[in-house]
Amino acid sequence: MHIEGPEACTPEDRDGVVTLIDSILRIGSQQTMVTDYPLVYRNDNLENVTIVRANGKPVAVVPFIPWSTHHEGCELRVGIISPTGTHPNFRGHGFGLQCLNRGIARMNERGIELSVLWTLVPTFRFYNHGGFQAVKDQGSCFTLTQNQAGWFQDHGETIAPPGEVQKHLPAIQKLRHAEPIGLLRNDDRAAALHSLPLLTTYVALRDDQPVAYLAYSQSSNKPGVTEAAGDQLALETIMHRLLAATETEETVEIFCPLCDTNFSRMLDRVCHSEREPFVEGTMFRINNVPGLFRSLSPWLYRRAAGQTMTFSITVTDTNETVSLEFNHDRLTIGDQRQKTHFDLSRLDLTSVVFGAHPCRPFNPPEPLASLFPYHFPISILDRS
Ligand SMILES: CC(C)(COP(=O)(O)OP(=O)(O)OC[C@H]1O[C@@H](n2cnc3c(N)ncnc32)[C@H](O)[C@@H]1OP(=O)(O)O)[C@@H](O)C(=O)NCCC(=O)NCCS
Repeated sequence: MHIEGPEACTPEDRDGVVTLIDSILRIGSQQTMVTDYPLVYRNDNLENVTIVRANGKPVAVVPFIPWSTHHEGCELRVGIISPTGTHPNFRGHGFGLQCLNRGIARMNERGIELSVLWTLVPTFRFYNHGGFQAVKDQGSCFTLTQNQAGWFQDHGETIAPPGEVQKHLPAIQKLRHAEPIGLLRNDDRAAALHSLPLLTTYVALRDDQPVAYLAYSQSSNKPGVTEAAGDQLALETIMHRLLAATETEETVEIFCPLCDTNFSRMLDRVCHSEREPFVEGTMFRINNVPGLFRSLSPWLYRRAAGQTMTFSITVTDTNETVSLEFNHDRLTIGDQRQKTHFDLSRLDLTSVVFGAHPCRPFNPPEPLASLFPYHFPISILDRS
């Protein structure tokens, strides 16, 4: 058996990779990874799709796609890991982990401070090997039916025909970027994501001007309301019409990010009693500890609320030390050990920064417990 890799997927490998990953994660489905996650398998991202070949055929794959993000005043680069798979005959030989590690090395080369993925609890262990830690859920969910359509008032906006979504993209982009949350989606990526199979983007117009939008998908990988932004009353109108048009037995899942957005405020006002936990299996990997703290500085400074304190953390896996010195007027990030010091593994530090997952409880010491967690919900539309 001739094994090659881990290395980048080439355009010639792409069909074999998609066949492989569909045969593992799209069994019995009409959906395929290449249209479910179109940005991941484009030529310009293939360097970030790592594969292992056996006798010339892909047998293991771990893709990621880089994003720039702007969230709560912080700018950082994130690598989203896309569905991962090893052919059943080739499992347990380390190929999955080798692919994951090449992806992480590539993120480090490109200055991507953080990586994220969503998976099921049984595979947490696999990703733990790559330094990913499951964290607390970054959102909640509502499951509604036609019966609840009347809870949402119809304020009379016009809903643009679904075929017009591309025409309204510039306005959709503006509405989205006005929210405090999100990956920085350029127009090209936005056009691809709003064209996903089984997805409809409803755009509410007032005087012919888009004032809100809501993306609703009937796919298996992104079911329900995956994203919404804009004017609260117009969002209410869209929800009313969406629910009123569903079949009696049908349920509509709504993802609500752990963040103060117009959509979350509207849902709180109309149906807070229906809020439920959203079990999403988010795992983060802090690729660059000082880099992440530097990126989070604006938020950390606000959280410290004028307190003066200094502490340091050593990440025991790499022996890397980062210090944080909060003064009244600024936060200084350094690399010297301080009197107040914590030794933490990469996994424990991830639990501190993003909040611990119930399957791996972790109680951070002060002042870490008061400063964190940093909620970093990522729109379902952007997930890959
Ligand atoms: C998860 C998967 C990609 C791992 O591939 P692999 O090539 O067999 O993994 P490796 O041989 O590199 O395993 C590395 C480590 O992870 C562990 N591991 C592997 N697969 C695992 C799984 N499904 N669940 C938990 N741990 C797993 C291995 O035991 C090994 O740890 P060990 O050395 O302590 O025993 C493969 O099992 C698979 O394709 N599963 C189905 C698809 C899936 O669940 N993908 C992930 C979600 S998108």
